[in-house]
Amino acid sequence: MQFPSIPISIFYLIILSLTLHPLPIYSTLPSCRSFCGNIPINYPFGIDDGCGAVQYRHMLNCSRDLFFTTPSGNYKVESIDYNKKTLLIYDPAMSTCSILQPHHDFLMTDIQSAIMPPTSDTVFALLNCSIDSPVLNHYKNLCFDFSGHSCDELYGGCNAFRVFHLLSNSSPPCCFTSYDTVRYMSMNILDCSHYTSIVNTDNLEGTVPSDWVYGMKLSYSVPDTGCERCSKSGGTCGFDTETEGMMCLCSSSVNATRQCGPGTFTDGVARPSWAFSHGLVIVLEAIFLVMIF
Ligand SMILES: *[C@@H]1O[C@H](CO)[C@@H](O)[C@H](O)[C@H]1NC(C)=O
Ligand SMILES: *[C@@H]1O[C@H](CO)[C@@H](O)[C@H](O)[C@H]1NC(C)=O
Ligand SMILES: *[C@@H]1O[C@H](CO)[C@@H](O)[C@H](O)[C@H]1NC(C)=O
Repeated sequence: MQFPSIPISIFYLIILSLTLHPLPIYSTLPSCRSFCGNIPINYPFGIDDGCGAVQYRHMLNCSRDLFFTTPSGNYKVESIDYNKKTLLIYDPAMSTCSILQPHHDFLMTDIQSAIMPPTSDTVFALLNCSIDSPVLNHYKNLCFDFSGHSCDELYGGCNAFRVFHLLSNSSPPCCFTSYDTVRYMSMNILDCSHYTSIVNTDNLEGTVPSDWVYGMKLSYSVPDTGCERCSKSGGTCGFDTETEGMMCLCSSSVNATRQCGPGTFTDGVARPSWAFSHGLVIVLEAIFLVMIF
């Protein structure tokens, strides 16, 4: 058998080398999804771990729809207003003017209460309270009327709440109150059998309960972590999932600490698995060379 001539074997070697040593693929797609359904996901939020601000880690869950995750459950996010910095959420298990459902507490973590509390124009309506309820006694001053509405309108104006009226032959006590009341007192302590919440209560003068919007509006704050510098350089703000330090994600294979651009990368290329296969290929090539020459 005749050996191929030296130039031809070098040619084979180059071909082999190119097929076995693919260059690391630099994807220009960032690994952070920027939409969940039709809701844009921008800083400080993230739906993939390591994206957005670390303070908002594990708060949003995108499983077909976008959900806000709290200790009391997953609440559907209806919209995010990035200009007003608000998030409109809706609890499918909550009572509204048209549906009566068993109550459960609305709980947020301490961090959530601090960085994204319900807005002051989100009002909680506690319904069918017992006469021993703290909000009818010691904490009476926590109840208020909003935009000229009294709580009793709910019993008369909502199909779902008419039942309270019918059963007791009078209006059982109720209370319009703010988030802090339900934050510090559970529904059991409040001793009210149901609740609902209403948003945009500042502009509801002269309207009827069946026209109100039921849900909660949260007002979030954007942590000042230098994200602007990163996004101006073309990156996506994120964080290291282990150290939770801020990171600027430049592409799926390159992370920089502050901003994208030459000289600022923390090296994301020499990953162990790639280095290993690279080494293996060099050994195979050496054997190949020994066979040829
Ligand atoms: C995300 O929310 C959905 C809807 O409530 C829930 O079924 C799912 O378990 C949640 N996933 C996580 C990881 O919390
Ligand atoms: C109203 O509250 C009372 C307890 O105070 C409860 O027994 C009753 O079932 C409640 N009404 C409805 C319709 O749930
Ligand atoms: C870059 O950071 C993201 C988010 O923390 C992480 O998922 C990814 O693995 C990192 N990439 C590299 C190459 O280190």
